[in-house]
Amino acid sequence: MSLPVKLASSVATWDERYAEPDFAYGDAPNDFLVSQGARLQGPVLCLAEGQGRNAVYLARLGLDVTAVDQSAVGLACAEQLAAQHGVTIQTAVADLGAFDLGEERWGAIVSIFAHVPAAIRQAVHARIATALKPGGLFLLEAYRPEQLGLGTGGPQNPALMMSLDGLREELTGLDWLEGAEVEREIHEGVYHNGLSRTIQVICRKRGA
Ligand SMILES: C[S@@+](CC[C@H](N)C(=O)[O-])C[C@H]1O[C@@H](n2cnc3c(N)ncnc32)[C@H](O)[C@@H]1O
Repeated sequence: MSLPVKLASSVATWDERYAEPDFAYGDAPNDFLVSQGARLQGPVLCLAEGQGRNAVYLARLGLDVTAVDQSAVGLACAEQLAAQHGVTIQTAVADLGAFDLGEERWGAIVSIFAHVPAAIRQAVHARIATALKPGGLFLLEAYRPEQLGLGTGGPQNPALMMSLDGLREELTGLDWLEGAEVEREIHEGVYHNGLSRTIQVICRKRGA
């Protein structure tokens, strides 16, 4: 199945994508997040959360969830999705480059396909350990450069993708519980569709 060719980069482009009739990445949560959901404790911060499918899933588990994204249109969809499911989430429209993650504030931080510019990603990752409570978890799935050319989703710019080696340098002060290169079928809305190459990571802050 071929994907829409338009690539998202600016806030306006993301707003436009999220104004389309269907949820860009579906309204179902990411498979990796679902496989790990039971081990997460709140409050949870979902980074670059778009239309809220993952945040709403976590809220339905009973967790206190905040979703941050630069797209107000995406987060409006997230709030509607939450209301449809009878749950509440907090939303923050913000550029992650300027968003204050706080100190020892989160039981978990979730990053699902948070393909933000590399400088912003590195700055955010450098703050994850400080922002987590002791024992808190950081969970991530992202496309890796080997995804390029498959045509099944993700950014077409390798600088926006992630590798295990790169994350080991960026995510300081955390113990790695899992870090895997995965090849799997992904079917998430219109924009993630087909055999895909990702990394899946779980790290824990020491101390609990
Ligand atoms: C591929 S979408 C993933 C959305 C969501 N995590 C999901 O899996 O359904 C990437 C998201 O990153 C957001 N984003 C990109 N750059 C950002 C930035 N600098 N600050 C905040 N959000 C950003 C976009 O608005 C978009 O919602």
